[in-house]
Amino acid sequence: MCKTLSTLFLFFDSVLELISPLMFSHLQSKWNVTPLRLIFIFITFAVGGSLTGLAGKKIMSAFEIEAVALYILIYIILVTLLWPLAVLTVSIPFGQFLFFKSYLHNLFARLANAKGATDQTNNKKANALESKQAALLPGTTQTNLKRLAIFASGAGSNAAEIIHYFKGSNLVTVGLVVCNKPGAGVVSLAAAKKIPLLLIEKEAFFSGGYVAQLKEAQITLIVLAGFLWKIPQPLIAAFSKRIINIHPALLPKYGGKGMYGQYVHQAVIENGEKESGITIHYVDEHYDNGDIIFQQRCPVLPTDTPETLAQRVHALEHAHFAPVINKVLQNL
Ligand code: GAR
Repeated sequence: MCKTLSTLFLFFDSVLELISPLMFSHLQSKWNVTPLRLIFIFITFAVGGSLTGLAGKKIMSAFEIEAVALYILIYIILVTLLWPLAVLTVSIPFGQFLFFKSYLHNLFARLANAKGATDQTNNKKANALESKQAALLPGTTQTNLKRLAIFASGAGSNAAEIIHYFKGSNLVTVGLVVCNKPGAGVVSLAAAKKIPLLLIEKEAFFSGGYVAQLKEAQITLIVLAGFLWKIPQPLIAAFSKRIINIHPALLPKYGGKGMYGQYVHQAVIENGEKESGITIHYVDEHYDNGDIIFQQRCPVLPTDTPETLAQRVHALEHAHFAPVINKVLQNL
């Protein structure tokens, strides 16, 4: 019986998905991975599943359980506990640890009904309801509901301001938070505000830009609020003039690769600048380079440290970013 269960487990985890070309391309687009990477993921699933089956069988053989139902129950619990450990371990030599870490994180979050598919379904329903409600208001229609995707890598204080600003709006909703760091503050912010979260991976981001997921979420405008990866060409092409960034200095000065957060304020102070500020601009294929939409200045004091200047600049960002986003949205 144990052998039968192991075989079933293997079947479930690898063989069926491997032999179906339809499933292959579906998963490739769903996970936004290259074909080669998908093969490594399948191998990890298959080897991890086999190891789980073997380990489960070994452990079960230590007990003498007569009742079939009890045996099956314990076996299922056992393999459920062993499987995540097995695939995570196997994923390391195949270079897929980050994928499986994020995969398991999302899987458990879905099971806990915190986020993932269940949440997304709920959110879709909520968005549909919100759209319907908007359609009932004078002067608004269902198509008027504009959706923001906020990309952030850090604490997310700007993201929090934007979410707060559009809370209760019938015209604009934050439809997605996109983050490249599972431990970032913005991840907990998205969970607290019940906004769907898309955790992205480097390789997938730079090869495809997660365009399919953003289109599926019907995103109108992408807002970079402390997002530190360069935006890849496919994403720029798919959202032409629909990606904006905030930069904590007066561009074109103090922009470019490596110029983010404290590094910017440090450079401003070291160069003896008398003023700094914020720049909100469209995003193109170069760092901090697209057309400028808005700038606001603030003084740099002789006593300033990068931290005190950062606070002054952050205050400007919090005051102006969301209203500027609102204006940009009005023209879309
Ligand atoms: C903001 O100050 C933003 O201007 C900056 O990161 C900070 C994120 O803060 N972005 C850049 O430096 C981009 N080059 P937050 O996470 O508290 O919103």
